[in-house]
Amino acid sequence: MERVKKFVEFLNLIGYDEVRVPEKTGELGMESFDPVSELKKVEEEAKSCCRCRLCKTRTNVVFGEGDPRTNLMFIGEAPGEQEDLQGRPFVGRAGQLLTRFLNLYGVSRDRVYITNVVKCRPPGNRNPAPDEIASCYPFLEKQIELISPKVILCLGAFAARTVLNLPEKTPISKIRGKEQKITVNGKEIVVIPTFHPAYLLRNRRGEPEFQKDLENALRIAGLI
Ligand code: URA
Repeated sequence: MERVKKFVEFLNLIGYDEVRVPEKTGELGMESFDPVSELKKVEEEAKSCCRCRLCKTRTNVVFGEGDPRTNLMFIGEAPGEQEDLQGRPFVGRAGQLLTRFLNLYGVSRDRVYITNVVKCRPPGNRNPAPDEIASCYPFLEKQIELISPKVILCLGAFAARTVLNLPEKTPISKIRGKEQKITVNGKEIVVIPTFHPAYLLRNRRGEPEFQKDLENALRIAGLI
């Protein structure tokens, strides 16, 4: 900054009196903005969050994990029992199925980013309540902003409704596989709603459609 000031003084001296010293380094675009360390800060904040009742019953906050510089982000609903115990998303039965599908395409979990709409487990795996989703939304919003992926695969109706701001009762069957676009900080992100892996555990007939959506997302992200 001292060198900038000196240079401006010199320019003033030789007649460029329109030149001024910026108030903040940010005005020069000189600030060092690192999305990865910003994401860490948001995670720290989430870990001590008690904005809704779920903080009283959780074991761990499940913020999200994976490559923060990835082009592909997965968003699920909320942590289940295993996720709550381990503090990691999608590690229970549904998560293992998701991991298997990814591996089918030769993609490991650490090449994508996985998170949920709600970061704490709703007791007994009940659906997250609208006010819980709303309290947690700023964390998801920041994650999307900082990771800034090319594509988001929404796992289930809760994720799709939240990311696409759809009415509360919108069924996943109506929107599944239909590519949408959202704009975040001027960048277009493709959003693909698909079935939740937990649904696939009960309805194996949904697998081909899920696989089609996953493959589409992986291609857009350039992972296959
Ligand atoms: N179901 C979800 O929606 N998220 C998880 O992390 C696990 C199961």
